[in-house]
Amino acid sequence: MENIFKLNNINLNYNLNGNNIRVLKNINFEIKKNERVAIIGESGSGKTSLLMLMSGLEKPTTGSIFFQNQDFSKITEDQKTEIRKQKIGLVFQQFYLIPNYTALENVMFPMQINEINDEEEKATSILADFGLGHRTNNLPSELSGGEQQRVAIARAISFNPKVILADEPTGNLDRKNTELVSSLLLDYSKKKKISLVLVTHNSNLAKKCDKVIRLFDGQVKN
Ligand SMILES: Nc1ncnc2c1ncn2[C@@H]1O[C@H](COP(=O)(O)OP(=O)(O)OP(=O)(O)O)[C@@H](O)[C@H]1O
Ligand SMILES: [Mg+2]
Repeated sequence: MENIFKLNNINLNYNLNGNNIRVLKNINFEIKKNERVAIIGESGSGKTSLLMLMSGLEKPTTGSIFFQNQDFSKITEDQKTEIRKQKIGLVFQQFYLIPNYTALENVMFPMQINEINDEEEKATSILADFGLGHRTNNLPSELSGGEQQRVAIARAISFNPKVILADEPTGNLDRKNTELVSSLLLDYSKKKKISLVLVTHNSNLAKKCDKVIRLFDGQVKN
């Protein structure tokens, strides 16, 4: 099966006040097309850092990241931005919704920049699926944390990316919405053959994925 991601011997160090901190150590794994992978690990174990590398927003200290067999270190920042725009749906821990856009406009935005048709209809339908049919015209500041999180997820899947990278996509949700959002993410990505990489503390959600990557102190422990 086609490779979406291949990580080769990734190390990530931060220099903090002259101290070298090893955040990720010798990480190797692959994510296949249409594969769902959970990343689990304690707070501070390097999960968000790993997603930042996979999105091309950060660079590893050593090692290589291949996205669809393309080496991130061999392409320009503009090319990486283009890949993110067209092929990677990102759900950050802090959502980063556009503050002066409504929920609907936020979800329409990636479809507009990718020139996808019927964006309003599609965004309306996805928001309804996520239980936000009554919130389409609200600004992010008028939404609860859990509602904003669902808008962020709807936005990440709206434009049919190759992969969704989601950082604790159910972190702010109650049990009912955790169930709803988990099954929507899993079902939708399966239906559209989108790979899914999600960081989660929810062991039920991790179990439903095809593969679990356990990070412990910056290393993969399986
Ligand atoms: N820009 C930075 N400079 C220095 N250290 C950093 C930086 N970003 C992250 N770190 C350190 O890297 C380690 C891993 O952080 P990361 O955010 O990846 O953890 P995490 O597994 O996502 O944790 P959480 O579950 O709390 O979100 C932490 O010890 C953190 O302090
Ligand atoms: Mg994190």
